[in-house]
Amino acid sequence: MDVKKLLDDATGEISSANDIAILNQIRVKYLGKKGVITLMMKKLKELPKEERPKFGAVVNEVRNKLEELLSEKLEELKQKEKVERYEKIRVDVSLPGAKRDKGHLHILTKIQRELEDIFISMGFEVVEGPEVEDTWHNFDALNTPEWHPARDTQDSFYFDENTLLRTHTSPIQIRTMLEKKPPLAIISPGRVFRRDYDSTHLPMFTQMEGLYVDKDVTVRHLKYTLEEMARKIFGESAKVRLKPSYFPFTEPSYEVDVWFNGSWLEILGAGMVDPNVFKNVGYDPEEWSGFAFGLGLERIAMVKYGIRDIRDFVRNDVRFLENY
Ligand code: PHE
Repeated sequence: MDVKKLLDDATGEISSANDIAILNQIRVKYLGKKGVITLMMKKLKELPKEERPKFGAVVNEVRNKLEELLSEKLEELKQKEKVERYEKIRVDVSLPGAKRDKGHLHILTKIQRELEDIFISMGFEVVEGPEVEDTWHNFDALNTPEWHPARDTQDSFYFDENTLLRTHTSPIQIRTMLEKKPPLAIISPGRVFRRDYDSTHLPMFTQMEGLYVDKDVTVRHLKYTLEEMARKIFGESAKVRLKPSYFPFTEPSYEVDVWFNGSWLEILGAGMVDPNVFKNVGYDPEEWSGFAFGLGLERIAMVKYGIRDIRDFVRNDVRFLENY
């Protein structure tokens, strides 16, 4: 048996083993129960007595050497596998992160906040009121007589004879005046409800009421306030025009148009608070005067962004929403 060749072969195999499983096979091949070295030890008995010590010593030496090589290699392979494992799970913190789609506020919320900021900057306070109203706040106190079409069940959503979903934000005028003493300046954004549904009307839409009560308030104050709002929303060149109209709770009453992108577009209703409304809340109409307006948020957004169909606001289609 060429021990030198055996050692060389084994050394070569060990050094070229590139994973732990192969290294184990090599260990078994040489040092296992039926391994080459083990078999040599068994052969010891067959040798003449005087040769046994020398042969035994050589085989032992080879075995020790192989064990040493095997354990060195095992360490090396373990180290290598560890590095590979870490390499696999390593995170490169310098890589750009996965980009996530970010949401944003709904266009109506944005318009609402924009308007709130504008009116707050002019000294108005934001107040809110209930969406379920009684007919007194929604109609009677607002000087809206029994015969008015808005009171018809065809036009409104009633729970019972005296309770309905508010048809406008104007009942907030009443609630505010009953609670506070003049002078006062409030705006009130919120949802309102009517039995309407087409490309320019929704059964639920959003208004912002405005009310200013003080001494000697004139139409000029109303017009200036609306012009200021229009310039901030539609740009410095925006103009405002008042056309005679009718609301039971204002006298005189106006439809208000804004000059934008080359045409006059109607955006709101307004007027001077009717003396009867002041009487209904216990204000002396000889002492106090005021203006009120109610603007449609969807309407403002449609004019500003050229949106054709009001139903797009509630369709919840991101392809529409992400444009604004
Ligand atoms: N409430 C009226 C509407 O919904 C708008 C309005 C408000 C008009 C205040 C005048 C004054 O049509």
